[in-house]
Amino acid sequence: MNIVEKLHSDSTPSGNAQADNALWSQPNKFARPPGIEVNGASVTIHGYQEFEISPRNIRPRPMDQPLRRKKKLAQVFFEPDFLAGKTVLDIGANGGFFSFWACQNGARQVVSLDMDKAYLALIREAQAVLGWRRIRPIHAKLQNWQEPADLVLAFAMVHWLYSCTANYGSLEAVVAKLAGLTRSILLIEWVAPDDAAILGFKHTEWNPGVDKAGYNVEAFEGALRQHFHKVEAIGPTSATRMLYACRRQCHEVTLHPHLPMLAPAEQVISSRCLCDYKETKYYSRVYAEASTDRIIKQTTLGLALHEAEILKRLQGEYFPRVVSAEQRSGYSVVIMERIHGAELAESLAEVASSPTRLAAFLREGLAVLSQLRIAIVRHRDIRLENLWVRNGHPVLIDFGWAETEDEAYLSPGGLGGLERIPEGPTCDVYSMGRVFEQIIPQNSKLFAPLLDRMLDPEWARFEPITELEQILGNLSLPEKWDVPLVFPVPRHAAARPGAQPIRTGVLAAEAARFWKRCRGYYRKVFRPSRPSR
Ligand SMILES: C[S@@+](CC[C@H](N)C(=O)[O-])C[C@H]1O[C@@H](n2cnc3c(N)ncnc32)[C@H](O)[C@@H]1O
Repeated sequence: MNIVEKLHSDSTPSGNAQADNALWSQPNKFARPPGIEVNGASVTIHGYQEFEISPRNIRPRPMDQPLRRKKKLAQVFFEPDFLAGKTVLDIGANGGFFSFWACQNGARQVVSLDMDKAYLALIREAQAVLGWRRIRPIHAKLQNWQEPADLVLAFAMVHWLYSCTANYGSLEAVVAKLAGLTRSILLIEWVAPDDAAILGFKHTEWNPGVDKAGYNVEAFEGALRQHFHKVEAIGPTSATRMLYACRRQCHEVTLHPHLPMLAPAEQVISSRCLCDYKETKYYSRVYAEASTDRIIKQTTLGLALHEAEILKRLQGEYFPRVVSAEQRSGYSVVIMERIHGAELAESLAEVASSPTRLAAFLREGLAVLSQLRIAIVRHRDIRLENLWVRNGHPVLIDFGWAETEDEAYLSPGGLGGLERIPEGPTCDVYSMGRVFEQIIPQNSKLFAPLLDRMLDPEWARFEPITELEQILGNLSLPEKWDVPLVFPVPRHAAARPGAQPIRTGVLAAEAARFWKRCRGYYRKVFRPSRPSR
């Protein structure tokens, strides 16, 4: 344990009866009591998490709406194709819902970490009933754990770690610790300062002496971006909680057996399952070719060939050049030019160095749309990660799902990602607007007239590119930014400001019960024993 870790693990008070009985030593004190029911090969777990599990199924019980919501939002990270061969660290595993789910869907090994022995005993017992062996229940505090994993889960943990059961004292320190444990992806739930649990138990108010950065969403998102390559707000888990997915690596590499390897593993740039559509799973793998100027893209069925056909309609520096393409048995391959540049997300400071520099880049973004229209191509998956920057200019990639106006193509559900228009078929103008929104510094209103137009769903469908060019041309832009260079975190429609908060009857009733319990406890235990620092 290094000195910082030691400080964090030692600083919660202990050693007297009152402290041993306090929230920081018994974090589940006010949750539903833990319990287990075994019925043949099925198990029901009770407590903070309420769920039922059998060898092939797992489902939250109806009373546990937050768990249902988390399951729905986290689904893509629990797909068997995604989990195959991966290790998982479930921090604050509690009854083990996410550990069991990951194990059921093929994770190689799962560590269920919790400081509460009673819950770990439930996990052990349930695992024995199911006859599984890949879950390691570990009784430890997060601050004393050093072993990294591919997928790390930190649901409903950040407020505990900040200054209650651990004492990182700043969101930056909490996120740094979690990033150090994450090889690939961290799923983390933000718990806002006005959350009922925090208002009741004051998790964040302990040890004010070490609270350096403040407990707020700006500091949280800032820390995520500092430590991760890519950060996305996936969606709200309640009115005051939000789930984020944070990636350490630029590309996902899952070496699944569904596509034969065309080159040694060291040459694989990315490899993943794209989607499950009409009972066919579509996979993609990209290799660096021996020549540094080309990549090989291999995809299920005719997807790569289709991409090549679409790209042949588009010429110029905004689109990758195709060298060759062919159909093979069960998959197709396209060899195309390698874009020597960087993802747009990594080039924000350069592209948005000043309002006029950004305006020039946005103008080229509109030119990309205009060329698509001339070629009567709809990309349908314009999103931040599909735009690259080469010598300061945009390049649009990934035409696998594109279609022409005269010929429809496959339309899997997730097309368009976070940038998709809220309703109806995809719309390239709207999606480009969502990309623009992410590269304009947060709080700057300089480009509002352009964004307002592009993000008006009805209007965007008319594809008014000439008018957009005029709006952009008419903006009077200062030489320097009026705001700091901070960029917004991309959000799903449901996670955007102004989206309807999730309030269910169950949540409201739980909050009321919670308040009742917490008022008494807070008066009795916390006030008299409050540490001086
Ligand atoms: C609010 S529950 C969240 C459970 C689960 N992650 C979920 O979202 O459904 C917090 C859990 O984290 C555990 N916990 C709190 N602080 C911890 C720490 N510093 N180290 C390890 N476990 C901790 C608690 O015992 C509890 O089971």
